[in-house]
Amino acid sequence: MLTRIMQTNEESLELARDIIQAGGLVAFPTETVYGLGANALDEQACRKIFEVKGRPSDNPLIVHVHRDYDISSLVTDIPEYAVRLREAYLPGPLTMVFRSLGTVCPAVSCGLDTVAIRVPSHPKAQEFLKYVKLPIAAPSANISKHVSPTSAEHVLADFNGLIPLILDGGECTGGIESTVLDCTGEIPVVLRSGLVTREMIAEIAGDCKTHTPVAGEKVRSPGMKYSHYSPRCRTALYAEKDLDAAVSRYDAEEAKGAAVSFICLDSEARKVGQRKCLNIGMTAEEGARNLYRMLREGERELDMIIGIAPAGRDGVMAGLMNRFEKACGGVYEEKD
Ligand code: TXA
Ligand code: MG
Repeated sequence: MLTRIMQTNEESLELARDIIQAGGLVAFPTETVYGLGANALDEQACRKIFEVKGRPSDNPLIVHVHRDYDISSLVTDIPEYAVRLREAYLPGPLTMVFRSLGTVCPAVSCGLDTVAIRVPSHPKAQEFLKYVKLPIAAPSANISKHVSPTSAEHVLADFNGLIPLILDGGECTGGIESTVLDCTGEIPVVLRSGLVTREMIAEIAGDCKTHTPVAGEKVRSPGMKYSHYSPRCRTALYAEKDLDAAVSRYDAEEAKGAAVSFICLDSEARKVGQRKCLNIGMTAEEGARNLYRMLREGERELDMIIGIAPAGRDGVMAGLMNRFEKACGGVYEEKD
């Protein structure tokens, strides 16, 4: 199959609509990462997403809708706080989980009685959703477990020859996936942190909790149990307080002939001297925007990436460090 990358304009949107209506897949830009979309009402089309990505069949998909779409045709029991959150933060990088009405096809929810709804703010995503006039099921447009794509080129690198069309909308400005919020209870619960932070949600909803998976308990957001966002090279992870151990590791790897680099925020990058470093920026927001692009750049030429994580986990840092830790293998190395 020929994979075309096209700027998002009338011609490509018409083609995208035809492909989606015929049960095919189209990759499209959002403000967070690129999505791999299919008609959420078409079971065969949604199954293709799982096949092409190599995605586990128990990991549900997010349904993307246009800002004017009436979601009461898809979900029920929308709490009052969710209405206020929608007014405050949508369109934007916040996905809300509600009870399903059973309208979307079974492959989307993977047997759960809930559906995750997202209204992306990227103007090209809005145009695409307006054109197709359908709810679009879409995971991030990467091969399962690989780093999420923040450009059309990243999507092509993973899916060349496997999908017919990639709508190009430039580089994603958000850079990490949307916040996933469980809105089925009295108090909203963050299942996956992102750019709409727990603090921002609590400000509007009065309260907000963060779900921490407990061993043996039923997983509430199946996606969170899988390893994710991994670059295709070796990785290691150190806390900023163990900087000396991280530097020793770097020097030992380099002495063995490995092409190695740190990845960290600017505050840590300043402390590693002349060693190679993927500096993801000064702030959590900059870090979120740059992390996946730098991991994808790094994996092309490096044998190993060593993450140095700062201590803070407030606000956007919660989402950034969740991705950062997973990308670097998730397990902190002990200080020697
Ligand atoms: O920013 C984003 O959310 C991107 C763009 C493309 O919109 N999409 C994305 O999709 O990150 P994906 O499939 O890579 O991640 C979806 C996450 C998974 O962790 C999944 O388990 C969770 O959302 N999820 C989906 N439906 C759910 C549901 N009904 N209940 C709980 N979690 C759900
Ligand atoms: Mg994903």
